[in-house]
Amino acid sequence: MTVVGLLRRERLRYVLATDVAPAAVALAGRNLALLTSAGLDARARELRRREVEHGKPGYGEAADAADRLAGQLRTAGGDITAVAGLADVFNPTALAALLPAPAPDLVLTDLPYDRQTSWQGSVPSDGEPLRAMIRALCGVLDDHAVIAVTTEARKVSLGPDVRALQRFRVGTRAAFIGRVGQLRAVA
Ligand SMILES: C[S@@+](CC[C@H](N)C(=O)[O-])C[C@H]1O[C@@H](n2cnc3c(N)ncnc32)[C@H](O)[C@@H]1O
Repeated sequence: MTVVGLLRRERLRYVLATDVAPAAVALAGRNLALLTSAGLDARARELRRREVEHGKPGYGEAADAADRLAGQLRTAGGDITAVAGLADVFNPTALAALLPAPAPDLVLTDLPYDRQTSWQGSVPSDGEPLRAMIRALCGVLDDHAVIAVTTEARKVSLGPDVRALQRFRVGTRAAFIGRVGQLRAVA
């Protein structure tokens, strides 16, 4: 989310990162701080402190990169309002409680791979968590909104009846991009 924010600042009004795991939300919050000048300045200062402490020039180069990103962020529109929050993606009430108004136009998801992370929370018993996630998201988003799902290629369980704006693969990853108005009927 932070990288998308830095790359597409001029297209964004607000970034909201959600996860069911408190540790993931805390990590996202620290990363999202890099979408502000203050956060990037603090990171650059910390990297320069480490450069002096450890005598490693790599930290100084990383600090210079943080300064460059701060400059690019200012030029592209300045700080982005960015928030990390705890929510179970299967629970539309929890999701709705976090959403700004108007609701987001774009949702980016990276599904659990069942290695380092697995589905948690109100996991559906029918074995179709991806459909359940899309159903919950459709419950809180407007028709024009777009949902992008990335996961391991062999784990995309949406059938051919689910209309996509795009489906593609990059290496072992598969991506599905669909519009809420078209997903409501099938999810
Ligand atoms: C593959 S990881 C993606 C992590 C993140 N995109 C990143 O790049 O660091 C999948 C994430 O899904 C989260 N997750 C699992 N079940 C969830 C649920 N019911 N609601 C929201 N997030 C969930 C896990 O905690 C995990 O952080």
